[in-house]
Order: sequence, then C-alpha cells, then structure tokens
Amino acid sequence: MSMTLRRLSRAATAGLVAAAALTAAAHSAEAADTLGSAAAGQGRYFGTAVAASHLGEADYTATLDREFSSVTPENEMKWDATEPSRGTFTFTSADRIVDHAQSQGMDVRGHTLVWHSQLPSWVGSLGASDLRTAMKDHINGLMGHYKGEIHSWDVVNEAFQDGGSGARRSSPFQDKLGDGFIEEAFRTARAADPAAKLCYNDYNTDGVNAKSNAVYNMVKDFKSRGVPIDCVGFQSHFNSNSPVPSDYRQNLQRFADLGVDVQITELDIEGSGSAQAADYTKVVEACLAVDRCAGMTVWGVTDKYSWRSSGTPLLFDGNYQEKPAYDAVLSALGGSGDPGDPGDPGDPGDGTASCTATYTRTADWNSGYNGQVTITAGDEPISTWTVTVTLPAQQSVSSLWNGTPTWNGNVMTVKPSWNGTLAAGASTGFGFTAAKNGSDAAPTVGTCTAS
Ligand code: XIL
Repeated sequence: MSMTLRRLSRAATAGLVAAAALTAAAHSAEAADTLGSAAAGQGRYFGTAVAASHLGEADYTATLDREFSSVTPENEMKWDATEPSRGTFTFTSADRIVDHAQSQGMDVRGHTLVWHSQLPSWVGSLGASDLRTAMKDHINGLMGHYKGEIHSWDVVNEAFQDGGSGARRSSPFQDKLGDGFIEEAFRTARAADPAAKLCYNDYNTDGVNAKSNAVYNMVKDFKSRGVPIDCVGFQSHFNSNSPVPSDYRQNLQRFADLGVDVQITELDIEGSGSAQAADYTKVVEACLAVDRCAGMTVWGVTDKYSWRSSGTPLLFDGNYQEKPAYDAVLSALGGSGDPGDPGDPGDPGDGTASCTATYTRTADWNSGYNGQVTITAGDEPISTWTVTVTLPAQQSVSSLWNGTPTWNGNVMTVKPSWNGTLAAGASTGFGFTAAKNGSDAAPTVGTCTAS
C-alpha cells in the first residue's frame, strides 16, 4: 500500500475507532471490572506501554486487550525506529501496535517526536539550519502518518537537566537551535495534527523541585504567549532512590492550574507486595484528585518485559498473575474484582478490613449544630475503626458520644468507645455537638480505616 493510501485509510477508520472505544468503556455492574473499565468509570483512561514484538504472545495480548484502554508504543515511534536515515520513514512496527489498539477500541499515545535519546546519529551531525528542517520534517512525517489517530503526542521528551539547576539538557536540538526548539516543535506539531493533544513529557518532575519548577515556568510562558501546549506528562518511574513524592498531587494540581491537562505517562514502581501496592494507590489517588488528570499509563504489561524487570515494577507478574499492586489500583479506581479471585478488592474473604464514613447534620440552631458520622464495615468483619473529622477553624466541639476523640488543632481523630466490633456490612456511628462561632460550614470527614 502506498503511503498516501495508508494515510487516507488510517484517517477514515478513526471515527469508527472512537465509537468502538465508547462501547468498550461501557460499565457493567455484574462483570468484574478491569483497569480500563474502572478508570473509564472515573472519566480517565488506563494505558500501558506495548512492544510490537510481544503481540504474538497469547497471554500478553489477552492481558493487554482485557485490561487496558490506551497504549503507548514503548520504542516503535521513536526517531531511531521511524526515520533511521534522513527522509526514509518506516512505520511497520508502530503500525502493528496502532492497528492492534484500534481493533480493540483502545486509544493510542504517541511517544515521542523530539528527544535526545534513541536518536539516529545522522541527526546529530547536521548543522543548525538543516537540523531545524529535519526536526520539522520528522514531526510532520510521524504526525501526518497517524493524523487523527493519536489522542496525545509527547512532542518533546526530557529537555531539562536533572539536579538543582533547572537548566536545559544538552542535545543536538538544544545545542544548535537553543531554547526555542521546544516552541518550534510544538508549533509544527499543532499544524501537523490539530486534533492531537500536545504534551511535554519528563521524569524527576513528579514532585515540586528545581526541575519541575523549570518545566512549570516554560509551560506558564507558553500559555501566556499562546504557544500551543495541551498537556504535561509525568513519567513517574519510582524506586527506593526516587520514591513517590509526598507532594505528587500538589505538583500535578499546580500544572493543571496553568490550564493544561496532566497525564501519568510511564508509571512503574519497583518493589513488591503491600508496600508496592500502597505506592500505586498513592499515585492513582493523586490522579483522581486532580480534575485535569486525564489518565495514567503503566510502562509495560508484565514484570518480565519491563525495562526495569529486576525491580518487578508492574501490575502483572511474569506469569500474568495480578499482583497486590493490581488489586490496589483497581480498588483505588473504584472497581470491583472477580468474585472467583480471592485477592480482588471488595471480595468477601479477601481478608482486608475496611470501612466507610459518612457525615450528616442531625440538628441545627443559631449558634451550633449536632453532627453524626456513620461508620459502615466493608466486606469483612472489623474489630476497630478510625475516622478523622476536620472542623472549620472557628468551630469547637463541646461534646461527643459513642466515640473517643483525640485532638490536633481543629482535626479530631475518633476511635470507638464501645462500638469497634462490626459484622461485615454493619454500621455504627458517633455524634457530636459543635459551636459555630460564626462559621456555618460543614466539617470534612476523612478516610475510614479499619482492622
Ligand atoms: C525505554 C524503553 O522502555 C526501553 O525498552 C528502551 O530500551 C529505552 O527506553 N523515558 C522514556 C521512555 O521516555 O521512552 C523510556 O523507555 C524510559 C524512560
């Protein structure tokens, strides 16, 4: 098939693909959720990096097709794979992934157009003016081939240095074209496929630090000058040297507040068991807490093919079994597991004590009110529970019944007095009287924990 026909037929199928994606995202109450369906219930996508070379492996493809709603080619769209010599484009492997994704109604993230790594040596040997032309030709070549088929493109990847300087990283683009290469790449990309979201993507920018501040300032400058940018990707490769930052959500939110979407683009967390699961929960909860967090992608389907395989950083082990991290992610996405799988979240017999807490105002008068917090055990019996209630600063609590409070400023942590033991699904609660002292606002009830 000639390149032109290929382009036309790719574009013509894009509408059908969008319709298929909607059907795939439909939420079924009876069936067990998958990562993709649970994330769709939260208005998010859940993706994975995919290598074309594994698509022939039945378990790999079955897991991919069942669980994920978006794919990112792990290497197949990089410069060395797509334009190994100047002007000669090869899309065979990338097309395999895109065709497979479309046949399953999955979205595709494009990764990546301009990056210092996996860059063929001919690019580095060009002079400035040739390099500028080659960069634009490359963007146009890739984006033209997949026009209308890519939901987001990582237009520029990893242009900032690690460490405290916040400086740009040395690369042929930076060294020969200067800071402006990033802006030129984004402007070229917007014209090449106006439907695609255009992202800047980087690592070690997941928390607030000098590097993320530098990216933040660039995005802010782009927005103020009308340079087209729609999203920022946070790679999120975590391990003991680079743990999930405590200000991850806050960092995502400050970028979102600039008027761009944020996406978690290459998530993997080295470790195992409940510690790894808890870290994955933190990441998913952070994304869900930020309205403009459009979705998340894990960097591979199975530990055995991970680029950091020895760190077992993914959600499925080498035999495609769901790890505790999988259960944690599904649960954080609000999904429920397969009743046949005792490890799944929310299943009877999964051994995880849990509870929920809800608040109602039961009485109200000029100077005060009574509040009631109802505690309900999850699918397991529990022997104790803990709930935090944060009061508006002015308010004070004069009495509390059926619970034992401890205070830290205006946050009260309440544990049971006599009523800690609950059967699965059973409820209890505590009540309190608060003085408004000029504020009629409701208190905030935090997460209920049980054991
Ligand atoms: C990695 C791939 O996973 C490996 O297979 C390849 O050998 C090197 O690149 N940041 C990125 C990704 O943006 O493209 C990298 O992917 C991981 C770090």
